[in-house]
Amino acid sequence: MNAVPDITLNNGVKIPQLGFGTFQIPPADTREATLTALEIGYRHIDTAQMYGNEKEVGQAVRDSGLDRDDIFVTSKLNNPFHDPADAHAAFDQSLVDLGLGHLDLFLIHWPQAGIGKFVETWKALEEIYRSGRVRAIGVSNFQPNHLRRIMDGSVVVPAINQIEVHPYLIQDEVRAFDTEQGIATEAWAPIAKGKVLTDPVIVRIANDVGRTPAQVALRWALQRGDIVFPKSVTRARVEENFGLFDFELSDADIAEISALNRDERTGPHPDQVNG
Ligand SMILES: NC(=O)c1ccc[n+]([C@@H]2O[C@H](COP(=O)([O-])OP(=O)(O)OC[C@H]3O[C@@H](n4cnc5c(N)ncnc54)[C@H](OP(=O)(O)O)[C@@H]3O)[C@@H](O)[C@H]2O)c1
Repeated sequence: MNAVPDITLNNGVKIPQLGFGTFQIPPADTREATLTALEIGYRHIDTAQMYGNEKEVGQAVRDSGLDRDDIFVTSKLNNPFHDPADAHAAFDQSLVDLGLGHLDLFLIHWPQAGIGKFVETWKALEEIYRSGRVRAIGVSNFQPNHLRRIMDGSVVVPAINQIEVHPYLIQDEVRAFDTEQGIATEAWAPIAKGKVLTDPVIVRIANDVGRTPAQVALRWALQRGDIVFPKSVTRARVEENFGLFDFELSDADIAEISALNRDERTGPHPDQVNG
């Protein structure tokens, strides 16, 4: 049995702890890749306005034959739309493009602290949330100081902070802050886009437990309590990345993998993204 556990968010909404990422899947390939993931058993899809593939994600969800309410769909506000009026219009467009009636989760994709509007943007997301067209709202790539500014200036505590996390960037300070505030952490690039798969420690632990390096890296994230959504357009890998719930890593394995941290990002530091 390979049942994916749910994480309960701070507003009571449940999110499957394992999902399917769609960054850099070209629109022409997205419907098929998403349908493959849904067929294998994934029930959580992560997309974004920036990825340019919301229409195809929505098409796959509609074509899957599954009940809309059984699939958790996330999208994210693109960087040019931090003005509250733009955020409202962009959310409306996401709903049209996805064609799914409502979204399960909507995130501010990057804080763009240099532009300095994210608290106002967050208030627009609060209004959207109150309108009932999204079940939860959150942020992505926010540092603790950004989260503090949101929580000081608004009412709704973000349900999620989606940040880059993998064995070379374990992000324990941001994760601990999220936990203290009741915010769930989502780990993007959970296999560091493939970089951690040849790490000798991960390869050795994979051999010890009879699993693949990708499964070990993903299982490490899950046992630390994070939500993950690896991306692959390769069916065998999409299947491999789903096989995470019939084995466990020991506490010693988890500690050894965490010790691989070298604060190495595959993407930009949040303070570098301003537009
Ligand atoms: N909020 C943000 O700013 C942000 C930023 C980046 C990503 N994300 C989200 O997080 C998701 C995951 O991150 P990511 O796509 O950047 O990186 P990732 O999931 O860490 O890595 C994806 C890469 O690894 C390969 N891969 C996947 N499974 C594999 C396996 N079992 N064995 C070997 N190689 C494997 C894929 O290749 P193939 O596809 O060729 O098989 C692809 O090149 C994204 O898709 C997106 O939804 C969010």
